[in-house]
Amino acid sequence: MISVLQPGNPVYCLHPEELRKSARQFLTQFPGHTLYAVKCNPHPFVLRTLFEAGIEHFDAASIPEIAAVRGLSADATAYYMHPVKTRDAILTAHTVYGIRHFVVDHPDELAKILYETNGASDLVILVRFATPGGVARYELSQKFGASPEAAAALLRQARDAGCGTGLAFHVGSQCLSPAPFRDGVALAGQIASAADVTLDYLDVGGGFPADYIGEQPPPLSDFLNAVKDGVQAIALPDECVLMCQPGRALVASGCSLVVQVQLRKESAIYINDGRYHSLSETVTGQLSYPVRAIRSDGAFAETMRDFTVFGPTCDSTDVLPSAFSLPEDIREGDWIEIGQLGAYSNALVTRFNGISPDHFVTIE
Ligand SMILES: Cc1ncc(COP(=O)(O)O)c(C=O)c1O
Repeated sequence: MISVLQPGNPVYCLHPEELRKSARQFLTQFPGHTLYAVKCNPHPFVLRTLFEAGIEHFDAASIPEIAAVRGLSADATAYYMHPVKTRDAILTAHTVYGIRHFVVDHPDELAKILYETNGASDLVILVRFATPGGVARYELSQKFGASPEAAAALLRQARDAGCGTGLAFHVGSQCLSPAPFRDGVALAGQIASAADVTLDYLDVGGGFPADYIGEQPPPLSDFLNAVKDGVQAIALPDECVLMCQPGRALVASGCSLVVQVQLRKESAIYINDGRYHSLSETVTGQLSYPVRAIRSDGAFAETMRDFTVFGPTCDSTDVLPSAFSLPEDIREGDWIEIGQLGAYSNALVTRFNGISPDHFVTIE
């Protein structure tokens, strides 16, 4: 790719075989529906590759995400998993796109859904409850999730309104231990019995970790076994559909980013992507990615050293929190491939300074 394009702008390299591999893992090891969390990487090629690999269910958080899923195929099902939605979006989701599954974590949101859908008889309400957290790079339960008592009350309300019912939780993104999944399922069991409601759905969320530098989470199978153990312990009814909604673990390895060095000053390099574009998770999640230098017309020195990495904007805060280890003779014009960048990268780019990376290639 580099020898053909000699790219001066960042290039996202999509690796479909990696996407297919992680899809296969979930499809063969998770005992229920695997919903891909579209927000993590909504690129049409990513959605299509996952769909063709067998992922037919999608966690959507907005009307454009729902539209993207519906555009894939009549066999692709979208679930509206944002706990706070505009009234317009609820109406559009239900009437235009035929969405039946909605998440809530507050009685007023349930009331909005019942009103806007005119008390439709085909609704399924999933009540999201908060989990204790503590082992994930991103805590999500401070923003969303009802307390166990409030969740039980909401579950009863949804059932009494004639809706199908479910419980949902999210242990936090890049969760490094399997235990919170087992604990989350146990808490779901307690909430369902307190509410005396038979669950139609149990959604164990996303949060399954990807591999980054300095972070060696247990294998995915440990996380999926924790879910299975949890489910066995609460004796979930056979008819209850188990769901998970991974983003990161499905797509992190499916994309790398090739950037170019624009200037070197001693132990600092200036590259054409940064924290306001594809690399914001170096700051928000303190993530470090594997990097390798690429030179098209010669070899690198063997000695490596740490470089401070500045991004492309004219803003002094555009610097990565951790150094890159690169050959000591790296210079202007060399490229760097940053791996494991399929999750929350292109999805989060801003237009700051008029810069907005959007070149994609697929690498077979
Ligand atoms: C409701 C919901 N589901 C799934 C995900 C995906 O999480 P992850 O990428 O950690 O698997 C998120 C991420 O924010 C989310 O908010």
